[in-house]
Amino acid sequence: MTVEEDKALGRPDYWDSRYAKSDGDDPTHEWFRSFADLEPFFHKNLFETQGVKAEDAPLILHLGSGDSVIPVELESRGYKQQLCVDFSPTVVSLMTERHAEFNGIQWKLADVRNMVDIADKSINVAFDKGTLDAMIYGSPWSPPDEVKDNTSRYMKDCAYPARITVEKQAAACQGYLLTS
Ligand SMILES: C[S@@+](CC[C@H](N)C(=O)[O-])C[C@H]1O[C@@H](n2cnc3c(N)ncnc32)[C@H](O)[C@@H]1O
Repeated sequence: MTVEEDKALGRPDYWDSRYAKSDGDDPTHEWFRSFADLEPFFHKNLFETQGVKAEDAPLILHLGSGDSVIPVELESRGYKQQLCVDFSPTVVSLMTERHAEFNGIQWKLADVRNMVDIADKSINVAFDKGTLDAMIYGSPWSPPDEVKDNTSRYMKDCAYPARITVEKQAAACQGYLLTS
């Protein structure tokens, strides 16, 4: 891919035009790893971790959820409280319609660089697969200013989920799971 193509991955219009090609029923693309690939990771970090097991009813935040099947797979394993955010209006509508029967999963339009609507201490686990990657392009040794700005805004709002301050994080959030 060229730098211009890499740059486009950080813009909602690029993702909107991808998701507009969906047939409505099937995922357009599961990025990087399938649920089956990640099952051991989820076992270790969710299913067998005190405080975030299904019976603990944690609220899981999916950062840039796209049309991934991960939230639905987790729902079928007992995770009934999930918030999926994405900055593509097309995919938010698509997923809201596709999975209308799942009352416990909400798809919401939001930018992970500015999570203004999420209350402090409301999130137990934040999960990202492929979204932080989407805002990175150019040299890793000397990243463009736009990349530094986007990633630091993301880190401020998401790696400390729900805008929890560093001091509060340990007490308020069990985990930030990043995979790509
Ligand atoms: C590489 S895809 C990964 C989708 C999904 N997580 C998966 O694993 O299949 C990146 C997703 O992040 C979303 N995205 C990128 N930048 C974003 C931002 N700043 N805020 C919210 N969503 C963003 C895109 O719309 C896209 O759905």
